[in-house]
Amino acid sequence: MPVIEAVELVKEFSRPTPLEGRFARVRALFSTQRDITRAVNGVNFTIEPGELVGYLGPNGAGKSTTIKMLTGILAPTSGVCRVAGLEPSRDRIRNARNIGVVFGQRTQLWYDLPLRDSFEVLADLYNLDRTTYRRRVGLFTELLELSDFLDTPVRSLSLGQRMRGDLVAAMLHEPSILFLDEPTVGLDVVAKARLTEFIAETNRTAGTTVVLTTHDMDDIERLCRRIIVIDSGSVLYDGDLSRLKERFMPYRLLVLTLAERSMRPAPDLPYATEVDADAAGTALAHPDRTVVLRFDPREITTPELIAHASQVYQVDELSIVDPRLTDVISQLYDGSLA
Ligand SMILES: Nc1ncnc2c1ncn2[C@@H]1O[C@H](COP(=O)(O)OP(=O)(O)OP(=O)(O)O)[C@@H](O)[C@H]1O
Ligand SMILES: [Mg+2]
Repeated sequence: MPVIEAVELVKEFSRPTPLEGRFARVRALFSTQRDITRAVNGVNFTIEPGELVGYLGPNGAGKSTTIKMLTGILAPTSGVCRVAGLEPSRDRIRNARNIGVVFGQRTQLWYDLPLRDSFEVLADLYNLDRTTYRRRVGLFTELLELSDFLDTPVRSLSLGQRMRGDLVAAMLHEPSILFLDEPTVGLDVVAKARLTEFIAETNRTAGTTVVLTTHDMDDIERLCRRIIVIDSGSVLYDGDLSRLKERFMPYRLLVLTLAERSMRPAPDLPYATEVDADAAGTALAHPDRTVVLRFDPREITTPELIAHASQVYQVDELSIVDPRLTDVISQLYDGSLA
């Protein structure tokens, strides 16, 4: 039985159409015209208990809007979502008992209260008895190393400290499902590693189901076996990360530094496509003289391609680069992998 389910989930936002021309502001008062944005456009997925799923997509893809529907903050325009058997927007309070939520871009904590007091308020909201409360805060304090700043007001915490606080706040009632929307945004490498390790550990030991939104491919590589990729509100890919890699990572890049700028534009080479020089991922010494070719080693061997390339270009230097996951995902976004 899936613990999270989205069926033809749609969310539209509408706002008054901005008017232009004479007396626009006065006419706007009487206008009923509205612009509609379909932020989520018929999304379907199911997630089983204990899964840790990465929910990915470019800015504005509809990730946060989906999470807001799953947490009950927003009601779907059409379609249904179910979380642990409940429809979140119709059963917000009961749903809140099953889930924990972190929105990395905005804290859920009380700015003027010390972290410890925020936890106390939440413990009251969740009716935790004192013993359970102390045990959990003690455990989290140790695991996430909070002791140095438990008595600091939230507004004075560093981003990494605040995020750890937010995570504890989301988990005090031991929810079986966690929604983490960009929990590592803006964190340094150490803080990020600590947080991802904690998330992995929680998923592994408590069997907590986790839905994680992030733009950070390291997080994804570290944490997720399955990813759901959306763009413009629709699912582009849903499956194992390793399958995605197997399918698209076999591509390699041949980076050529040409002797002569005048050798361009590119002639046709068998089984190779010229791609943007940024794809090489590293700083190029001579961007104006660099050609990057993407090829599939199952279609042409590297030496063969080099031989072809050397016939049509005058090559000063060459190197082979494996594409990074970031590139695979962004090619998925822009449709060039389809
Ligand atoms: N309250 C709102 N009113 C109007 N439009 C909204 C609202 N919330 C989101 N949108 C629009 O819906 C679309 C999806 O937004 P959403 O926040 O879900 O994207 P996202 O995938 O989380 O992006 P990001 O990676 O930048 O966080 C965007 O076009 C956004 O401008
Ligand atoms: Mg978002």
